[in-house]
Amino acid sequence: MLSSERFTVAPPGTIEFGEGALQTLGAAVTSLGRTRAFVVTDAGIVRAGIVASVEQVLTDSRVDFEVFSEVEPNPSMSTVDRAGELARRFGDAVVVAVGGGSSLDAAKAVALAAVNSGSAADLDVAAGTAVAGLPVVAVPTTAGTGAETNGFGVIQDTAAHCKVYVGDASVAPRVSILDPALTIGLPPAATAATGVDALVHAVESLTSRGRNPLSEAYARHAVRLVGRWLPVAVADGSNREARAQMLLGSHLAGLALSRSGLGLVHGIAHAVTAYTGAVHGVALAAVLEGVLEHNLPTSTPQYAAIAGDLGVDRTDAGEETNARAAIAACRDLTEQTSVRTTLTALGCAPDLVPELARTALADPVTRNTPRMPTDEALRELLTAAL
Ligand SMILES: NC(=O)c1ccc[n+]([C@@H]2O[C@H](COP(=O)([O-])OP(=O)(O)OC[C@H]3O[C@@H](n4cnc5c(N)ncnc54)[C@H](O)[C@@H]3O)[C@@H](O)[C@H]2O)c1
Repeated sequence: MLSSERFTVAPPGTIEFGEGALQTLGAAVTSLGRTRAFVVTDAGIVRAGIVASVEQVLTDSRVDFEVFSEVEPNPSMSTVDRAGELARRFGDAVVVAVGGGSSLDAAKAVALAAVNSGSAADLDVAAGTAVAGLPVVAVPTTAGTGAETNGFGVIQDTAAHCKVYVGDASVAPRVSILDPALTIGLPPAATAATGVDALVHAVESLTSRGRNPLSEAYARHAVRLVGRWLPVAVADGSNREARAQMLLGSHLAGLALSRSGLGLVHGIAHAVTAYTGAVHGVALAAVLEGVLEHNLPTSTPQYAAIAGDLGVDRTDAGEETNARAAIAACRDLTEQTSVRTTLTALGCAPDLVPELARTALADPVTRNTPRMPTDEALRELLTAAL
């Protein structure tokens, strides 16, 4: 009942959406009172020619810049610290994040590290161990993470085999440039894996303990867009309508998750990636069906709504039948886009199961899952996904 709800919504940053929006990058930097930009990106974005376009726009706008292009997929703390040191030496600037979630997340941590000393791992503005970071402008080149919608970077602690969260509201992107043309060159496998991430964001947000009416509105529309357009974008990457719809869907799913939190699918996937290096979206797909089945008793109405959004509901069927149809449709989407796999194929041996369960349950992202499993139940779920 809305009359018993109480929620707070922080103001979102400016969005520049549409083909050619990259041309507004120079103006975005100067609107933040700076004429210098520290660009954080990765080698794949350089190879795709996107960094050259970014450099051209900045040059045309008389913005002085330096580029750090060594972010790896699932960025590590040591990479963030190396980039942070370079940004500190570069001085007062806007941090421009160009790439997928890895570059965007690394850039947020770099923006904090640039004005603080020590490792990014120890920077916590809320706890008083750090001051607010440099302003960030985000230019996503994948349609999946929605990382442009929030101030936390998901960074890998390679020694402890887990993902940790580095960030602050001060490094939530002040401007996000959503230019679908930048996603046209993303290969089919990466399009599929990142798109599944957006789907899971929306689905987990809808059932999260932290959901509210606003996050639900974002998530429901994201489910519709991703369900309709992900298979099209994977089958034909040059389909401009599919690319635009997916970039919007990913952004809406990001707005949803940033307001609600996520759940166990993400908690397990973070653990799997930390131990095996698996691609984030592929790790999600390996356990998606099992977690949705586990959550069914607490999340039947939400899953039934998802069935409607994916167009697989039947008006003559009961809520539980429609909820099961939603679970099957989510699984089918991961199959149709060739992302579905097993934990074994990702390199998880049976003796890793206890460690995966322990790490997933300790991940803060799992806190909002609607039906917390016991350690034993989670081991069973993981074993079934091997
Ligand atoms: N902060 C958040 O809200 C949030 C949410 C979900 C996931 N994440 C994190 O995001 C990361 C995953 O990000 P991702 O799935 O976007 O992948 P990614 O950033 O790791 O990129 C994957 C690969 O795709 C390449 N690539 C990206 N865009 C391209 C393009 N347009 N053309 C050609 N190649 C391109 C990159 O070079 C890279 O090699 C994980 O670390 C995950 O934990 C963060």
